[in-house]
Amino acid sequence: MTGPVAFLNLPAQQRRLAEALKGRVEQVLAHCQFILGPEVTELEQELARYGGSRHAIAVSSGTDALLMTLMAENIGPGMAVFLPAFTYTATAEVVLLLGAVPVFVDIEPRTFQISINSLKKRYHHVMTEGVVRPAAIIGVDLFGQPAPWDELNNFASETGLVLIADCAQSFGASYKGRKLGHEALATTLSFFPSKPLGGYGDGGAILTDDDEKAALYRSLRSHGEGKERYDVQRIGLNARLDTLQAAILLAKLDVFDEELAKREAVARYYDAHLPEIVQRPERVQESRSAWAVYCVSLPARAERDSLRQTLTEHHIASAIYYPKPLHKQPAYKNYHDGVSLPVAEAMGDYVLALPIHPDLTEEEQAYVVTTIRKWADHYGRSP
Ligand SMILES: Cc1ncc(COP(=O)(O)O)c(C=O)c1O
Repeated sequence: MTGPVAFLNLPAQQRRLAEALKGRVEQVLAHCQFILGPEVTELEQELARYGGSRHAIAVSSGTDALLMTLMAENIGPGMAVFLPAFTYTATAEVVLLLGAVPVFVDIEPRTFQISINSLKKRYHHVMTEGVVRPAAIIGVDLFGQPAPWDELNNFASETGLVLIADCAQSFGASYKGRKLGHEALATTLSFFPSKPLGGYGDGGAILTDDDEKAALYRSLRSHGEGKERYDVQRIGLNARLDTLQAAILLAKLDVFDEELAKREAVARYYDAHLPEIVQRPERVQESRSAWAVYCVSLPARAERDSLRQTLTEHHIASAIYYPKPLHKQPAYKNYHDGVSLPVAEAMGDYVLALPIHPDLTEEEQAYVVTTIRKWADHYGRSP
C-alpha cells in the first residue's frame, strides 16, 4: 500500500450508514419540525441513557454547552475558573466571554491530563493574591481519556468550587467502570463532525443529574424562556440543537459502541507495534478512552518534525494537538499571570496525533506502523 491514509474518513462512515441516515433525515423532512422536533427529544433520552445521567439537554455546540453551564452558576467578573492550559480554546474562551478570569493549570506529561499538584498550587496562588475569587474548575478529558475525576471532585469539595466536565472529546469513554456523564455537576459534549460521535454540523449536549439545573439549561438554550414561550425569565441564548442534527446523531448512536470498539482496536494495534522511540499515550487507570485522538510523543522536536514529514511524504495524515498551550496564545496572553507551566509549554514540540477512526483498515494501520518503523530505523533507534 502507498497511501493516502486519511486522518478521519467521514465519507466511508457515511457509506456504511447511508440507509439509516437517509431514513432518519427523510422523517424530519416529512414532519418539518425543524426546531426541537421529536428527534431532539429522542436523542436526549438516548444520550441520558447512554451516559447514565438523569437528564440530557441537546444544544447547538460544545462551546455553548460550556457557556451555559457557567451562566447557570452566575460565573462573571471577579471570579477565577481553573482549567488545563493544554486544551482547545473553547474551554477557556467561555470564561472570558462571561467576564471571569481563566486560571491556566499545567498537565501531566504521560496522560496529557490536568495536574492536580499544579491545580493546588494555582489555587493557592490565586487565594494569596486575592484579586479574583476562585469559583469553578473545568476538567477536560483530553483526547478521549478521562481526567482524574476523583481527585478533581475531592479538591472541588474541599474548596467549595463548582466542577464542570468538558467531555467534548470523550463521550463514550468510561472512568472506574462507569460511562462518563456524572463525574461533575454538569458534563458537556460536542458533536463537532470529527468527534467520536459527530454530527453533520455543530452540536452539543449537557448531561446532569440535577433536576433544577436541567430546567435552567433548557431555559438558557431557548432565550431564557420560562414555562410559556414568551415568558422571559432570564437572559439566555439561541443554543438549541437542530432537529436534523439530532436525526443524524441518532443514526450514528446506533453504531456508536461498535465504532468505539474499532477505535480501541486501532489504539491497541498502535500500542503493540509502534517502535520504541514513539511514546504511546499512557492509559488512565481503570478507564476506557473514546480515542478521539491517538496522540504519541517523540523525545524532541526535531524527531517529531522529521516523523511528521516522513508521514506526509508517504501520504499519511497526522496532526499536532496542540502546537501551543492556551496561555501562550496571543488571545490569552493578557489574561495569564506569567506563571510558568513547563509541561504544557513543552508538549507542543513533542506531540503527534496519528490517524484513528472506525473505518481505518488493517492494511492502512499496517502501512502507518511500517512507515513509522522504517523512519525509526533511519534514526537508528529501532528495537
Ligand atoms: C476540549 C474541547 N472543549 C470544547 C470544544 C468545543 O466544542 P464545539 O466545537 O462543539 O463548540 C471542543 C471541540 O472542538 C473541545 O475539543
